[in-house]
Amino acid sequence: MSKAKRLYIKTYGCQMNVYDSERMAEAMGGAGYVETDTPDDADMILLNTCHIREKAAEKVYSELGRFKGLKDAKPDLKIGVAGCVAQAEGEEIMRRQPMVDLVVGPQSYHRLPELEAKAREGAKALDTDFPVDDKFDTLRHRPKAKRGPTAFLTVQEGCDKFCAFCVVPYTRGSEVSRPVGRIVEEARDLVERGVREITLLGQNVNAYHGAGPGGADWSLARLIWELDKIDGLERIRFTTSHPNDMSDDLIEAHGTCAKLMPYLHLPVQSGSDRILKRMNRSHTAESYLRLIERIRAARPDIVLSGDFIVGFPEETDRDFQDTLDLIEEVRYGYAYSFKYSTRPGTPAAERDQLPEDVKSERLQRLQARITHHQRATQDAMVGRKVGVLFEKEGRLPGQMVGKSDYLHAVHVADAPVEVGTLAQVEIIESGANSLAGRLLDK
Ligand code: 5AD
Ligand code: SF4
Repeated sequence: MSKAKRLYIKTYGCQMNVYDSERMAEAMGGAGYVETDTPDDADMILLNTCHIREKAAEKVYSELGRFKGLKDAKPDLKIGVAGCVAQAEGEEIMRRQPMVDLVVGPQSYHRLPELEAKAREGAKALDTDFPVDDKFDTLRHRPKAKRGPTAFLTVQEGCDKFCAFCVVPYTRGSEVSRPVGRIVEEARDLVERGVREITLLGQNVNAYHGAGPGGADWSLARLIWELDKIDGLERIRFTTSHPNDMSDDLIEAHGTCAKLMPYLHLPVQSGSDRILKRMNRSHTAESYLRLIERIRAARPDIVLSGDFIVGFPEETDRDFQDTLDLIEEVRYGYAYSFKYSTRPGTPAAERDQLPEDVKSERLQRLQARITHHQRATQDAMVGRKVGVLFEKEGRLPGQMVGKSDYLHAVHVADAPVEVGTLAQVEIIESGANSLAGRLLDK
């Protein structure tokens, strides 16, 4: 048998890219590759890129530059660019950086072994199609390797919303939901391999409408209830959601489905109706706040998280104040905030831009408030009993680390539990970035 070749993958961006990288590693496993965690001894290097914010392509070029020495020393080394930058700028990358042997978009990574074979023959290989064959099919042939306790599972991909700032509808294409049967099959397989918590992924995951066993479309809530039946699966999460797709059955599931965790990422982007309109968000600050009320009525202890963009074209001080006011009202447990960055080909890129210092100042002020609420949410956990799924050993002897139901990192000293155990823990202290707890029972 020939010696296995080594594949090094570097992943940027969102959780879907993490999932895609795993799939690419599996696809290449079929072509005789094993993964390595250093580029130095690799036979193939893959950059799985993200295009959501500025300087994405520049980052790829500088990262590629770092591999030049390796490529010179080992001309047989194959270098590939995958993901959303590959989708948006693949041909340009090949032109500008001759050491790139192959480019593969997020919809065609199942063809990676063919592309690699082509590259081995000395040809340049590029595939940024949106093919009709199912890239998820490669999953069916993967080895049954043991897994850690948590996993991502893509159920929906792409977006038809066309927010004025966002490249996703262009890089990931239009909304597609995977059929229920395939998802359940994949979830069962993950659980057999040791997974206890599954996070369902989609750019617009709550718009999920995959074909059910009878042919009719199922909602995300219905899919969650189906997954709830899987013995051994203890926790279900999903991300990312759009406010307009937060259907009644999904809100209700947050109150009634014990496996569905009390955490929801629900980006609003801005608290100003004027800006929301210009962003093409098709909801208002008020409708978002009423939605949050309904979600909290169904699940009072739910921890909410959000995304914010500051310095969107035409954002005034008043608009920004509206965003700060919304943050005070919602009291997010987590939030991700970004300065608006122009993305070529999106409508907002054509508009008048705000000065960089205004964006930076607003971002700082917004992040200070977010940090305050984040801290308060975390501190409020002290004294409470929460479920913790242990994911790894801690730095201290006997210490175990996991995530609470609310997604806080929790560490427990002298915990005689194995990785993968879900246990009840009493929170005794709130630290800088994590909670300390005491084991109650398994
Ligand atoms: N500029 C800044 N932030 C952006 N996001 C998406 N596009 C842009 C952009 N052009 C943010 C949004 C989205 C998150 C994934 O990234 O807040 O919810
Ligand atoms: Fe982008 Fe999300 Fe808007 Fe779709 S809903 S365009 S993925 S920000």
